[in-house]
Amino acid sequence: MTDTYAVIGNPITHSKSPLIHAEFSKQTGQDICYKTILAPLNGFVTATEVFRQNGGKGMNVTVPFKVEAYKISNQLTEQAIAAQAVNTLVFDNDKIYGDNTDGTGLIRDIVDNLGFAITAKRVLLCGAGGAARGIMLPLLKQEPRMLVISNRTVQKAHGLRQQFSSYKNIVSSNYAEISGKEFDLIINATSASLIGKALSLPLGIFSTESLAYDIMYGNRNTPFLQFARQEGATHLSDGIGMLVEQAAESFFIWRGVRPKTKPLIEMLSQKIKHIE
Ligand code: ATR
Repeated sequence: MTDTYAVIGNPITHSKSPLIHAEFSKQTGQDICYKTILAPLNGFVTATEVFRQNGGKGMNVTVPFKVEAYKISNQLTEQAIAAQAVNTLVFDNDKIYGDNTDGTGLIRDIVDNLGFAITAKRVLLCGAGGAARGIMLPLLKQEPRMLVISNRTVQKAHGLRQQFSSYKNIVSSNYAEISGKEFDLIINATSASLIGKALSLPLGIFSTESLAYDIMYGNRNTPFLQFARQEGATHLSDGIGMLVEQAAESFFIWRGVRPKTKPLIEMLSQKIKHIE
């Protein structure tokens, strides 16, 4: 029998998840059906319950419902607890398992696809919102030499550092305070690229060997990646690989089968860069 999954969000029409999971299902021969659910802003719990009662096996959860998904889960993984947000739900009778695959997806893209080892590197994480929190634990598990969390609102950077205070090599600051430091990996986990804005980063923080990674993507380089290129960084990546890898991790959680991601990353990159 075909098992049904869905992605829930508001808005949802832009979601690439149905396309990605349809490709994964074709590639692996897994018999699944994957829908989109547009839930009203105050209707996440009801929409999820209806889907579950109708036999839905699992869900991806996107903006703005990841925190609500965390709250309805009655079993949470370590990553979900650290992220305080859930993007993958598994329904099993009364059990609702909540996981977060965003950070794992990012690390897989950086380490496996781009071949960039994070261990012992100097890492700058820009942003201290939900997206930044979601990648903290998987990033720290790679054991960077140091992790600087930098944010426009510095108190939020301090708050995020304190949440992970069992790790010793974390520093928090605003953007001006990182002036004079150079980083091997700089990740933009802010939503600034969504509104076409650059961050007020100081000059000189990139080297030619640095990797600049924006978790957002679009039809051309984001303002953050444009800035990194102007500053001499030659390794640039947008978040398409992360998008596909987090989906592959959800697929693995649901089906126990790991799909190949490379063909899909290539296909989506071409599609996004030509159409949008
Ligand atoms: P998300 O869940 O996408 O992380 P969020 O929790 O609202 O969303 O966090 C948005 C992040 O993007 C924050 O780090 C925010 O900085 P502030 O905490 O100072 O608001 C950052 N951000 C958004 N627009 C920005 C801009 N124009 N310049 C700098 N940072 C920006």
